[in-house]
Amino acid sequence: MDKAGRIDPWSSEQSTDYDRIVSQFGLSSVNPDSLPNPGMLHRRGIVFGHRDLDVVVDCMSVGDPFGVLTGLMPSGRMHLGHSMVIDQVRWFQEQGADVTVAVADLEALATRGTSLAEGRETALREYVLNYAALGLDPDNTSVYFQSSRPAVQRLAFTLGQRTNLSEFEAIYGFNGETNLAHVQAPLVQVGDIVHPQMDEYGGLRPIVVPVGVDQDPHLRLTRDITQKSNWFNVKQRKSGGLTVALSIQDGNRSDLGVTDSGKVDMVSRKSMMANLESSIIDLGFSDVKSNPKHGTIEIPAATSADKFRIRMKLLSKERKMGGMGLLPPCSTYHRFAVGMTGDKMSSSKPESTIFMDDDVGVMTKKVKRAISGGQPTVEEHRRHGGDVSKDVAFQYLQFFFEDDDKALHEIQAEYESGRLLAGEIKQLCIDSATAWLSELSEKRAQWEDRVDEFLAPDAI
Ligand code: TRP
Repeated sequence: MDKAGRIDPWSSEQSTDYDRIVSQFGLSSVNPDSLPNPGMLHRRGIVFGHRDLDVVVDCMSVGDPFGVLTGLMPSGRMHLGHSMVIDQVRWFQEQGADVTVAVADLEALATRGTSLAEGRETALREYVLNYAALGLDPDNTSVYFQSSRPAVQRLAFTLGQRTNLSEFEAIYGFNGETNLAHVQAPLVQVGDIVHPQMDEYGGLRPIVVPVGVDQDPHLRLTRDITQKSNWFNVKQRKSGGLTVALSIQDGNRSDLGVTDSGKVDMVSRKSMMANLESSIIDLGFSDVKSNPKHGTIEIPAATSADKFRIRMKLLSKERKMGGMGLLPPCSTYHRFAVGMTGDKMSSSKPESTIFMDDDVGVMTKKVKRAISGGQPTVEEHRRHGGDVSKDVAFQYLQFFFEDDDKALHEIQAEYESGRLLAGEIKQLCIDSATAWLSELSEKRAQWEDRVDEFLAPDAI
């Protein structure tokens, strides 16, 4: 993070002060016990924060539709760091989500100079093939390219109206020197994140975006923009219940009963409010008081648990009236695994991570050289034990290779007590990683000719 506490999504530095991030940006903590069939990353606190995850968890429990969206930068090789998001995508898919994958080929073109053709090639061979091998189900996965989905680009323009350079400066720290590619990319990403809610791409439903914290600025931007675009806001009332309030904007004045000169046109306002009121009554609330002049509707009996239902109703109403009717995205945040050499994992530093197609020999060398939490001598190690918080081998078992909690605890206890030596924990990691990589490589071979099954019609 920079001095102003900003997160730079393009930086090679990584923000790992997670407590500060949680409090500074108001993330909620993830409680694994509140999730159905929590995955390994949830159980281990690696997925540590979220925004509105409860919205999708509620969908899971009642069987309502929801989607998960992720994006990939088609440059470099896919490594373990990238696989963490896919693990979560697969978990959401198993809980009922449809999956949309954005290939950020425009972003790669603009910020890294990757040609679209090269981006396509890398996306399919390096990423989508591994996503298949990691177990995504092609039946409800849809991979598209930013460059060939005009709806996404259109949204980037339309929604760009709801923000300005000052907001970009506050969120990203941009200034006069900032390359405009870095101004365009976040807007296209906003388009990526919201477009699955459009009628042509699955319709109004919550969309969850699992990311590393480095991508949170984009989520904050998207949430802010969607909120500003909403025609109806739902607020908690001080005296209990909820209030619906109109949000008058350039594009909706006449729809919401405001004349060109800015006055309330009571006839049209009253009829639109009556219409709105009746859709709230349809939800089962009998005590509803509207104030057409102020453009508010009070629902005293509504609880915060009703908020989502009411919002969904209002958003679909907004759509019928000509608005976009967008929900803010839900998101989850995961901790980064340490790089094997101590700094950030990166495709440009092959020693810092394991690539999905590293062979066993290459992987073994990397693990053997990786930072250890062991003591300098066997004698000291037996006496003091190893430190799992520093040990790459242990952390890689925890993040990637050992999904059995009990086995992991045993390894930790043995290591901390000094019974298990640093070389031995590395060997355990190598053995598990060997099995993991071999399985992945077999799966890749099975999918090699079938990657197309994951592609959206506009990506073929
Ligand atoms: N900016 C992301 C990256 O650098 C890629 C991306 C594009 C993305 N669109 C997205 C990620 C939407 C999540 C959601 O990796």
